[in-house]
Amino acid sequence: MQTKDFLSISDLSSTDLQLLLADAIELKSLGWNSALSDKTMALVFEKPSLRTRVSFEMAMRQLGGQVIYLSPAEVGLGKRESVPDVARVLSRYVDIVAARTFSHDTLEVLGKYADIPIINALSDKEHPCQALADLLTIFEHKGNLKHLTLAFVGDGNNVAASLALACGLAGMNINIASPEGYELNSGILERAQILAENNGSEIEIGHDPKLAVRGADVVYTDTWTSMGQEDENVTRIKAFTGFQVDSALMYLANDEAIFMHCLPAHRGQEVSDEVIESRSSVVFDQAENRLHAQKAILSQLLGGAGILPNCR
Ligand code: CP
Ligand code: NVA
Repeated sequence: MQTKDFLSISDLSSTDLQLLLADAIELKSLGWNSALSDKTMALVFEKPSLRTRVSFEMAMRQLGGQVIYLSPAEVGLGKRESVPDVARVLSRYVDIVAARTFSHDTLEVLGKYADIPIINALSDKEHPCQALADLLTIFEHKGNLKHLTLAFVGDGNNVAASLALACGLAGMNINIASPEGYELNSGILERAQILAENNGSEIEIGHDPKLAVRGADVVYTDTWTSMGQEDENVTRIKAFTGFQVDSALMYLANDEAIFMHCLPAHRGQEVSDEVIESRSSVVFDQAENRLHAQKAILSQLLGGAGILPNCR
């Protein structure tokens, strides 16, 4: 990987993406090893987490490394201490940082001032580690990525943004249906469209979940209210009426379509209990693949291909 940090899916080239997915598959079968035995990672989180925290901790441990978790109260990014100072201090102690922040700008500043790699463990703008695990999951279930169609039904949020970029990079089509006023950020859409054009796929943006899902191989949704937007919860539940992924909507997708959700899920809101518990649901495979995809990211950022003799 050419990039020092992994803040956005746009930090990757198509080749980087292919190599990361290949490494993740290899690492999944390899299990525990000592490739990063002299490395330490700090997790700096401004928001709660189950999957991201545990999968990063386990990824580092399974690669032989050490982990330090810093909770929201401990660091006070930009409050107790300025973000540039936190970046420069952590660079003297650890080898890599995965940070979960409210503002994406905080990650950019961490990346600018740190001598060590910074990984986006979710910001208001993107969730690139999730998108990588999602592509791995789709590949495992469908046997390929190129020319498949993913329908994203719901908020044009951080998860949708990284998925749109990842689909563009992988040559997958993506249809996004959101209520008016909750569409994908226009800058991300432009970047995703360029990636899609370069890789022979298309992005369709609209407001009709049925149109988006018709003929899709993958149906994806996420919470209507992301972390940090709790005050808007009531307004959002109203605005997203008609955007639940239920069995009637899944019926419009391709016969073998899979259902995906990054979790945590809100049954009865963005997804029905029946769909998330159905045979087509692969949500726990996605959760597991966070571990394997992040092992590939850590290995690449901390040592490149050479650090994993059994990979490639
Ligand atoms: N999908 C995901 O990032 O979950 P957490 O918020 O629990 O880390
Ligand atoms: N869009 C959600 C994803 C949680 C993993 C959020 O930002 O809260």
